[in-house]
Amino acid sequence: MTIPIKNKVGVAKMREACAIAATVLDQLKPLVRPGTTTQDLEEAGRDFIARLGARSACYGYQHGSRRYPAHTCISVNDEVVHGIPSFRRILREGDIVSLDIVVWHDGYVGDNAFTVPVGPTTPVIEKLLRVTRESLDHGIRAAQIGNRIGDIANAIQAYVEANGFSVVRDMVGHGVGVSMHEPPEIPNFGRKGTGDRIKPGMTLAIEPMVNLGGYKTKTLSDGWTVVTADGSPSAHFEHTVLTTEAGPEILTLPRRTTATVTP
Ligand code: MF3
Ligand code: CO
Repeated sequence: MTIPIKNKVGVAKMREACAIAATVLDQLKPLVRPGTTTQDLEEAGRDFIARLGARSACYGYQHGSRRYPAHTCISVNDEVVHGIPSFRRILREGDIVSLDIVVWHDGYVGDNAFTVPVGPTTPVIEKLLRVTRESLDHGIRAAQIGNRIGDIANAIQAYVEANGFSVVRDMVGHGVGVSMHEPPEIPNFGRKGTGDRIKPGMTLAIEPMVNLGGYKTKTLSDGWTVVTADGSPSAHFEHTVLTTEAGPEILTLPRRTTATVTP
């Protein structure tokens, strides 16, 4: 399958969808605190998405015979991705929470995620979050015209493993555009110089998932929640990136509204 190249109009619409996805994440961040349930975050996320004129791309997303039942993915501690929000899941100090927000707007999809601690946490967890975030930066930096997808994968893997953590192999990043998942697949591990060549106008969701322990994962009986096989904590950071001749451009940056003074 060939990788879709976005034209001017497609890029403009991607910018809008991605800015909305990022703004929702930004608005959710301060709500992550002890005592909050993941269902509280779901409802807030659902409302923020609606208020920004978009629609969740997760809600009703079909995988096999199942449809994802929520507007957000919220994964706590050893949950890697696709955690289903629940009123029974109460956040406690020291937890880590991955929020994954994917929105539809005007026919295009924006996809982004981050992991935040609930209150103070331990130095090793701080390091897990920092290394995962930085591995995303390394992956993005490798998304240069003329490079290959394997260069992104290798940059992420090398950085993570040099820091003593492991990259999840069962899930990958992906192209994103008129649907949530377009070619190419973007693994977070692999060899330099392999895979498709990067061209201008690609929109790529780069998303390292990093475990404190081993890389293996399993899916819970709810059919969605992916957890680490060894129960170790896991972090996830994701941006949607536009490839350009001038270098990769992160599209999922929040728009902070500035107060306007009316006379
Ligand atoms: N960012 C996730 C992905 O790319 C979002 C999945 S939405 C869900 O797969 F519907 F599958 F939960
Ligand atoms: Co994604």
